[in-house]
Amino acid sequence: MAEDLKITAVTKKEKYKELLPQITALISDESDLVANMANVCAALKQTFDFFWVGFYLVKEDELVLGPFQGPVACTRIQKGKGVCGTSWQKKETLIVADVEQFPGHIACSALSKSEIVVPLFNAVGNVVGVVDVDSDELNFFDVSDEDYLKQIIALLKF
Ligand code: SME
Repeated sequence: MAEDLKITAVTKKEKYKELLPQITALISDESDLVANMANVCAALKQTFDFFWVGFYLVKEDELVLGPFQGPVACTRIQKGKGVCGTSWQKKETLIVADVEQFPGHIACSALSKSEIVVPLFNAVGNVVGVVDVDSDELNFFDVSDEDYLKQIIALLKF
């Protein structure tokens, strides 16, 4: 049985620091990947009130929408398209300060202003999806988000 998250910190980094052990506890008793991805989204949304947070998973030659929290979103993204498809293709984290300046950005919502996309790797180093976090503020994300999001997704077994 999951307990409520307890976040008292004010700064982003301190919130991540408090959140990490709680996410670890939340998913450590559960082996189902979808259940754990869903709770990771909920925990991030609840802690930071991100505009949108979710997973896209590689299925055949596309990214397909997985567990997420936020407004309805596009369901399929081609490799190399948008921020997510580019992160998949480059196998790199992308931090976009202003989505309108990113060529080919896929605007699921006009309210999304900045985003970070971190690729997900399986045990043999293939990209199996991405985690996408969107903010309604410009320039919201930095390397501290990358660092903590990587630590969070490292808890998931893809
Ligand atoms: N921003 C993404 C599309 C997905 S939505 O933001 C949920 C992109 O350009 O890849």
